[in-house]
Amino acid sequence: MSYKDFPKIELHHHLEGAAPPAFVRDMARARGLDISNIFDAKGAYAYRDFSHFLNVYEAATRPFSSPDDYALLTAIVAGEAAEQGVVYLETFLSPDFCGGRDPVAWREYLAAMFEAAVAAEQLGITLRGIVTAVRHSGPEAARETALCAQETAGDFVVGFGMGGDENAGDTAEFAYAFDMAREAGLRLTSHAGEWAGPASVRDALTHLKVERIGHGVRAIEDPALVALLAETGTGLEVCPGSNVALGLYKSWKDHPIARLWEAGVKVTVSTDDPPFFHTTMTREFEELERAFGWGEGDFAALN
Ligand code: ADE
Ligand code: ZN
Repeated sequence: MSYKDFPKIELHHHLEGAAPPAFVRDMARARGLDISNIFDAKGAYAYRDFSHFLNVYEAATRPFSSPDDYALLTAIVAGEAAEQGVVYLETFLSPDFCGGRDPVAWREYLAAMFEAAVAAEQLGITLRGIVTAVRHSGPEAARETALCAQETAGDFVVGFGMGGDENAGDTAEFAYAFDMAREAGLRLTSHAGEWAGPASVRDALTHLKVERIGHGVRAIEDPALVALLAETGTGLEVCPGSNVALGLYKSWKDHPIARLWEAGVKVTVSTDDPPFFHTTMTREFEELERAFGWGEGDFAALN
């Protein structure tokens, strides 16, 4: 069936990563920026592998250089999510791209995004932000990002997280930033178990004390860790279409989401960076139905 109108909760979604490529291209043209090398002949985002994906991602943020640009980006992205039946969206917001982690500039960017998010409520979608450190920018930058998060923690900013290159640095080096965010009352998540194995998920639990994990799918390689995730009720923000598009798993049928769920792990479904992975929330549900025979009752449980 089509799940387009089925109400969906999405918890792992990068704001810039959800920007439609045509919109990014138009913004770049209007600003006289040449980023044509990040698009293929059909106008889609083009990247070779995960490391190149991160470069393309950063290049795609370059046309957005003011709070007004981010307000427009938020409005467009919220509209696209609402169109997919998403009723609640937690999106990753990056002070790195919004004023270079300067707390004063960050407040202005955030106010603009918040205003756009409030306007989007008319479409039946509630947006919340997770302020996100970029791991390959290093622990000092993560502390600056945590300061931005601390200063703006509240009704709209509900969490602190970390994305980027999972293999950059030791996880323990980022503990201070996560402590800062926790002290500000923020809920915590980190990307782990995507490009590194089960030890990376254990490190995120031990050092960052997160209650959710972005991806976390490679926990499947360690049954004791799967049991620990189930026991502690740690939520996994699983993005199957992203994992398949980036080559982590050969096909949807090979994806471990069903095995993790059967083992009692709290799994959820998200798109990560929808246009980069040629996916939508509707497609995620439909592919999961095709691969595992899941139906409305299962998706309601995942929500
Ligand atoms: N930033 C955007 N998408 C990401 C992903 N899948 N993993 C890590 N960092 C990201
Ligand atoms: Zn992600």
